[in-house]
Amino acid sequence: MIVVPGPASQKLGVEIAKLLNVEIAPVTFKTFPDGEVYIRIDKELKNELVIIVQSTYPPQDYHLMQLYQMIDAARNSEAEKIILFVPYLAYSRQDKKFLSGEPLSSRIVCETIEHLGADEIFVLDIHSEIVLKFFTIPAHNLMALELFGSYFKELNLINPLIVAPDEGALEKAKETAKILNCGSTYICKTRDRHTGEITVTLKELDVAGRDLIILDDIISTGGTMAKAIEMAKRQGANRIYAACSHPLLIQSAKVRILQAGAEDIIGTNSVDSECAKISIASLFVENFHK
Ligand code: R5P
Repeated sequence: MIVVPGPASQKLGVEIAKLLNVEIAPVTFKTFPDGEVYIRIDKELKNELVIIVQSTYPPQDYHLMQLYQMIDAARNSEAEKIILFVPYLAYSRQDKKFLSGEPLSSRIVCETIEHLGADEIFVLDIHSEIVLKFFTIPAHNLMALELFGSYFKELNLINPLIVAPDEGALEKAKETAKILNCGSTYICKTRDRHTGEITVTLKELDVAGRDLIILDDIISTGGTMAKAIEMAKRQGANRIYAACSHPLLIQSAKVRILQAGAEDIIGTNSVDSECAKISIASLFVENFHK
């Protein structure tokens, strides 16, 4: 067994290899002057079970192309089996055609990965489980809720409440609340399909004097989180933690969220970010062995 830590997930890949106590295949990578991607896996992979670790956070297309090339390289090297850990699977928010004339972007990604020769894939907290149906190979969605629970247990929160930023995320909030033995609720959010404008509907939350964890799958521009935090602050919440599986944190998202009143931003190392405070290496290793 060999782990290939892709350029986008180097630390995570090395951590996984250490936990599995297996060798690492170093990857040489560069960008040609015209912008094209170059990858070389610097190890013999013939007859090996190869685990490629590569998240596809922004720049998504660049990281996807690196992933495609690593799968192809492993297949060309006659690897026995290729298992992928792609914590953030890009384009998963485009799980259907919202407007006529649109492509089904998530399906393009899944079909390409499979066509290139991956045998199995693990992802983390995928935005839409529908996307996994585009694979015919085994595809697993891992959830880091236990890890979030353990992280927040250490903070000795005051009468905590887990808040889902929309109704769809309530189940995850409930699961995390069970671990912390506390309550959960959700905020009503809608997004305009044309402008991307978010509307957060004010709902009376029982938050006065309590510590809040607002838990989302992705923080991208920080717009959803900032609105939720402002609303909770207005209603008298105490400390508010902005938590997510995938801290994309585009442009000034961090400033936006902290200015809105967040105590901290907590993400996983699905994304190589300074807010990646929770490692998902053990989560992959435990599930990989199941
Ligand atoms: C959308 O439904 C997701 O669950 C997140 O709430 C969304 O992607 C966050 O995006 P942003 O940070 O740009 O508001």
